[in-house]
Amino acid sequence: MALAKFLADLEALEQSGQAALDKARNAADVEAARIELLGARSGRLKVIQKQLGQIDKADKPVAGKRFNEVKCRLETRFQEMLQTFAAGSAAVATDGEIFDLTVPGRKHRLGHLHPITQTINALQEIMGRLGFSVAEGPEVEDPWHNFDALHIPLSHPARDPLDNFYLATAQNASGLLLRSQTSTVQIRVMESTPPPVRIISLGRVYRPDTADATHYPMFHQIEGLLIDRHVTMADLKSVLRLFATSYLGSEVHIRFRPSFFPFTEPSVEVDMSWHEGWIEMGGAGMVDPAVLTAVGYDPEEVTGFAFGLGVERICMRRHGITDIRELYRNDVRFLEQF
Ligand code: PHE
Repeated sequence: MALAKFLADLEALEQSGQAALDKARNAADVEAARIELLGARSGRLKVIQKQLGQIDKADKPVAGKRFNEVKCRLETRFQEMLQTFAAGSAAVATDGEIFDLTVPGRKHRLGHLHPITQTINALQEIMGRLGFSVAEGPEVEDPWHNFDALHIPLSHPARDPLDNFYLATAQNASGLLLRSQTSTVQIRVMESTPPPVRIISLGRVYRPDTADATHYPMFHQIEGLLIDRHVTMADLKSVLRLFATSYLGSEVHIRFRPSFFPFTEPSVEVDMSWHEGWIEMGGAGMVDPAVLTAVGYDPEEVTGFAFGLGVERICMRRHGITDIRELYRNDVRFLEQF
């Protein structure tokens, strides 16, 4: 017997059950419908149960599971309805609806998005308005995208096994690792699209840091990349300022400090100040010509900027969260506040 037919029969049965319950006006109605549908000898459910024997072996687990779910649900609903009527005078039937005035109200707990997800959505929205589309890349990366193409030489300390999660599989000769930065996505996008590009990428990155108030071995970055003719550092600063003021409000200030990244030249550290002192949000710079060449772009034709900021930091700043670990403890009393 075909699985689809079996499941359709079950579905139809469940619907008749619900329809009968909706129509029932007293305990006798409920009981009559119960015998017709769930009766132990010749109820309709019994008939369906017999068909279970003819289902293909491979489909049996699915069919059996579904059968039990429907059976269980119907039995519970019938039971509840009988109890409602048995409660007698407290149950008031008024044209089609039954109210038991004595039953305490049910409190519905509404789930909601995690603060980091909320932040990611907000940042995507803001950058979308500035014309940046969203790009994605894998969290398990090869060394080309995490290091080589980003001009991080073999001898660079950023490749140290102590600073990265290399996959510990016997086959991992190619040096796969959990990406340590979202800059990998810059490379993937440039490899597959001709300029101009204007993308952001938001996602998880991994570094073997001991968790404390400001570190966690997994966190999120927002990466931005803009490549076109005549892009300058001034464009970078304008975009970052617009980005920061859109998310945190017009009182936020932004400053650049000279820094170094192998894949940008010049490179800067990006700080933001909002209400009180400066906080380091991440790095940025003009994409190094060597990187443009590595992905097949002509550095004489196009230039561009890139930035990578910590999403947790941005979120924590906005909400006054002081310990990053709170975000990942999954204590609803904390998460419910956002
Ligand atoms: N990838 C760098 C980091 O994780 C940040 C960065 C991104 C710097 C883009 C420059 C340009 O620290």
